[in-house]
Amino acid sequence: MKLWGGRFARGRRDPLFERFSESFSLDQRFILYDLRVNQIYLKHLASAGALRQTDARQLIRGLENIRRWVERHPDWSRGQAAEDVHTWVENRLEREIGAPARKLRTGRSRNDLVVTETRLFVKDAIDKLERDAAGLMETLLTLARKHLGVVLPGYTHLQPAQPILFSHYLLAYFEMLARDVGRLEDCRDRADELPMGAGALAGTAFPLDRAALARDLGFARVARNSLDVTSDRDFVGELLFVCCLTLVHLSRLAEDLILYSSPALGYVELADEYSTGSSLMPQKKNADSLELIRGKAARVLGRLSGALTLLKGLPLAYNRDLQEDKAALFDGVDTTRDCLQVATQVLATLRIFPEKMEAATHLGFLTATDLADELVRRSLPFAEAHEQVGRLVRHCLSKKIGFSEVSEAEARRFIPSWDHDLARVASSPALAVEKRKALGGTAPFQVKRQIVLGENRLKELRKRLAERKL
Ligand code: ARG
Repeated sequence: MKLWGGRFARGRRDPLFERFSESFSLDQRFILYDLRVNQIYLKHLASAGALRQTDARQLIRGLENIRRWVERHPDWSRGQAAEDVHTWVENRLEREIGAPARKLRTGRSRNDLVVTETRLFVKDAIDKLERDAAGLMETLLTLARKHLGVVLPGYTHLQPAQPILFSHYLLAYFEMLARDVGRLEDCRDRADELPMGAGALAGTAFPLDRAALARDLGFARVARNSLDVTSDRDFVGELLFVCCLTLVHLSRLAEDLILYSSPALGYVELADEYSTGSSLMPQKKNADSLELIRGKAARVLGRLSGALTLLKGLPLAYNRDLQEDKAALFDGVDTTRDCLQVATQVLATLRIFPEKMEAATHLGFLTATDLADELVRRSLPFAEAHEQVGRLVRHCLSKKIGFSEVSEAEARRFIPSWDHDLARVASSPALAVEKRKALGGTAPFQVKRQIVLGENRLKELRKRLAERKL
């Protein structure tokens, strides 16, 4: 049964188009939202005098029966068909209570209904995404605390640059995720507006108390413009953008760990559970979990692009194109949640090889900047210090030796003031780490402080999320 039969010739339906235009297969995920929004809406409709209280009660009870039935039957939608979940509910209600079900649709449209449900879904999805992100942030902090003191080469251009603490490295991703959570919060706040009462586009002609309706449905505010709220899906695009950015961050983490787990570097090893082998090469252990995270970032980027393209050029107000928002939204959210959870497990089970990391800090002249800095402390202009150290590096490279193997006489050819102190600076990556004491630097005490601050920030986040559940 369609919700719009009257205007149309009977029996003129093409199964191809029925299948093409249905959204039930996707928006059945909204079933509990649909039932709840309808129930609360009916209550307010009765308060507005647009529906008799006895009718409202009967309709609400019917919807309640459906809700219980749905909750008892996790596979409730199997074998069911409808144009969309809203149509299914109305048809089902008619089976449940008969003719009075035909009053369900009073004063509302699927246009304000579907976007109300989408906004409720988005708010809940954001809570779940934040919870998943908090799990990953916690794992990063745990690892950072556990391995505090471990030094590894920091890279720029993927070339050895300066030594850093492994914990400092991990905290970089903590910061990225913390910003992603902030963006989720912003997005949640903008999504937190009530569409119901906007009707199909122009608003409802029944005297609904929309502020009270918003409170009952858990919205912070009422949407101020009915055309806007029934036809924009900017909040879907915004959430997908945040999902995308989160996955861009996870994708970079994945890329790092893929490189670090290559035997050429050997800083880490993935647990067997999150790796796969080769059907041909018996020795292979591949970091497929991380490669898939990288790949899924591309997929969600496609979803974002699809969602924005969907909106671009749509005339106001609702157009059926908007039905496609669900495919993008559901897939984007589900994929991002999966990636956050897999990344958490990969990290929680990751084997770390501190001695490999540490050994690598003695290759690649990571202390070159510290040598130059030391010369600056001895009043050499930095540019000159840079030149002297550069020439020493060049010499070492030609002799295939490191800073610690260079003799005093050799070193003095390039750095006239070379002495025991400079030799110590040159051969101590740990000292280089120690010196970066300014806020935000990799010195152990700063990193430790960041861990403590991070733990407090995480506690705040968890508190906020727990309060929201109530
Ligand atoms: N299934 C539709 C959607 O997801 C519901 C709204 C249909 N509205 C309409 N005027 N045809 O957007």
